[in-house]
Amino acid sequence: MASSPHSSSLFHHLLVFFLLLAAATAFPVTSEFELGIQKRIHFRVYFHETFIGPDNTTVTVVNMSLPYTFGNIEIYDTVLRVGPDESSTFLGRVQGAGFHVSMQEEVMLVPLVLVFTAGKFVNSTLTVIGRLDASGNSERAIVGGTGVFQYAWGKLVTETVTSSVAKLVVAYDVYVVYYNDLHHSAIA
Ligand SMILES: *[C@@H]1O[C@H](CO)[C@@H](O)[C@H](O)[C@H]1NC(C)=O
Ligand SMILES: *[C@@H]1O[C@H](CO)[C@@H](O)[C@H](O)[C@H]1NC(C)=O
Ligand SMILES: *[C@@H]1O[C@H](CO)[C@@H](O)[C@H](O)[C@H]1NC(C)=O
Repeated sequence: MASSPHSSSLFHHLLVFFLLLAAATAFPVTSEFELGIQKRIHFRVYFHETFIGPDNTTVTVVNMSLPYTFGNIEIYDTVLRVGPDESSTFLGRVQGAGFHVSMQEEVMLVPLVLVFTAGKFVNSTLTVIGRLDASGNSERAIVGGTGVFQYAWGKLVTETVTSSVAKLVVAYDVYVVYYNDLHHSAIA
């Protein structure tokens, strides 16, 4: 008699149980930590992208020449500043890629990292993944961070300030949840 769906699912559960047991034995937990005080902040910074000239920040690495730039890939290393003005205080860089992912409209899948090298969040990063359409405005997910922003999550709201063939300035409203006073303690 063939095994019933029920007994095969029981077998599956037992298998998962023993695999988890084996994994727990192979990787014993040696310490635990508390996340500390949750902080929720909003701040606005400005993304400065340059397309033309020796200080260009963006290169197209794949150009498929298809409708809606489908299949194209760009890599960028742009500048993050306190304000929309080119001379305003430097905060760090925004490094990432743009994958043109739609056959019906101009849309990019954009993974990026905000790298703070000056200011209040120096030596910290925020990782963002999201979708950007031709409007230039977007809402994207903050999926993590390092430094001050370890264990962070939140959202990034973007709005184009100025746009030309040579330059693009975008306001980045960062809404982020992160934790202060982390405590690590040994168990073993
Ligand atoms: C971008 O900069 C590089 C190196 O500085 C230069 O070779 C290239 O021509 C520039 N691209 C554009 C589109 O200006
Ligand atoms: C891609 O190639 C086409 C055809 O050569 C050209 O017209 C277009 O400007 C290129 N796009 C980019 C982003 O380099
Ligand atoms: C940031 O990192 C640099 C290089 O590792 C270090 O010299 C500096 O002290 C760090 N600053 C802060 C505030 O942690």
